[in-house]
Amino acid sequence: MNSLAGRKLVLGVTGGVAAYKAAELVRLLVKDGADVHVVLSVAGARFVTAVTFQALSGNPVWTDLWDPRMGNNMAHIDLTRGADAILIAPATADVIARLVQGRADDLLTTLCLARDCPLVVAPAMNRQMWEHPATRRNIAQLGADGVAIWGPDAGEQACGEVGPGRMLEPEALFERLVAHFTPKRLAGRKVVLTAGPTFEAVDPVRGITNTSSGKMGYALALACARAGAEVVLVSGPTGLAAPDGLVRVSVKSALEMRDAVFAALPGADVFIGVAAVADYRPAAASEHKIKKSGSALTLELVPNPDILAEVAAQPDAPFCVGFAAESRELDTYAEGKRRAKRLPMVIGNLIRDGLGTDDNVIVIYDDAGRHPLERASKAVLAAGIVTHIAGLLTPCGK
Ligand code: C5P
Repeated sequence: MNSLAGRKLVLGVTGGVAAYKAAELVRLLVKDGADVHVVLSVAGARFVTAVTFQALSGNPVWTDLWDPRMGNNMAHIDLTRGADAILIAPATADVIARLVQGRADDLLTTLCLARDCPLVVAPAMNRQMWEHPATRRNIAQLGADGVAIWGPDAGEQACGEVGPGRMLEPEALFERLVAHFTPKRLAGRKVVLTAGPTFEAVDPVRGITNTSSGKMGYALALACARAGAEVVLVSGPTGLAAPDGLVRVSVKSALEMRDAVFAALPGADVFIGVAAVADYRPAAASEHKIKKSGSALTLELVPNPDILAEVAAQPDAPFCVGFAAESRELDTYAEGKRRAKRLPMVIGNLIRDGLGTDDNVIVIYDDAGRHPLERASKAVLAAGIVTHIAGLLTPCGK
């Protein structure tokens, strides 16, 4: 199941240039399964029309408190009924001031007064408006009233100035909403993960690597962070952006990866080895580019350390999770790896099902046996793996 499946969200869009980004936010929310109801202020409708939001959300868009489409003339009650959250993005200085006063002279502010769900505002305004003492007072009061304030970012503004006041990007708002709704199963835990391939240098421009995309490791790191863990992601070279809310340490070779893992390990409750670590590296990388010659070239390869096995062998080792990507006989090889490396848990998959793709089919192996998870996106599988790990951890403080 997607993270926001079954969630009813009211998105308030007020009159700022960033309203165009709200359209992208609706798309992200709907794609993840949310039922989104857009309330567009009169000023918001000057920037983006209701048609855009209706097409993206698949729901009617509301502006008027007296809209005759709502049979009972109670749009302010009907829209918040069953809502899991109201998010105002962009939230102008004006709507923030009116929320502070508890005004109810348009649909959006009335909804906010009549709600019994969390309210989040994502401010967007010129930096002088943001820094004005009136806005500072209003933001402090809104926070004291229990309203969550996400952002703003600092940077280039539509008015040409540079400073604080930019609305958070749609992806960042989406990520915060998902994190908001994710149970904090790993609160108080530290998780260290490896992800991606390693790159073993042959000479200054060449090396040995593999086709691991890093997607599973990154999805798992993000799922751990969403579940409330402190996360250190030790990543080999990938083209992936660092997810919000965690520390990424970028490395190239297996030896660098091992050093980074051991540096991050103190205090870790969980270690998850997702990286496709090269089993061998050249005995010595050539200092200079190896020149072409007519004869055969022999590379001497030496074994790399097994990072996961080394971590698992530590006295006081964290809860260690391994991955087994196999081309056949998954049960035999995955369970064999679990026993050989003395791991409490291994996640197995067949290479044809998941290498480099966005979804996968996996089986979790632990002391209780095998637990297959049906084909799903790596994000959904990652959430399932986190739930499984959390269920096997000794309760905090014991
Ligand atoms: O032994 P094998 O490479 O098949 O085991 C895979 C598991 O071990 C993965 O979790 C991988 O991240 C980890 N591993 C490691 N260091 C290595 C090789 C594998 O941490 N050198």
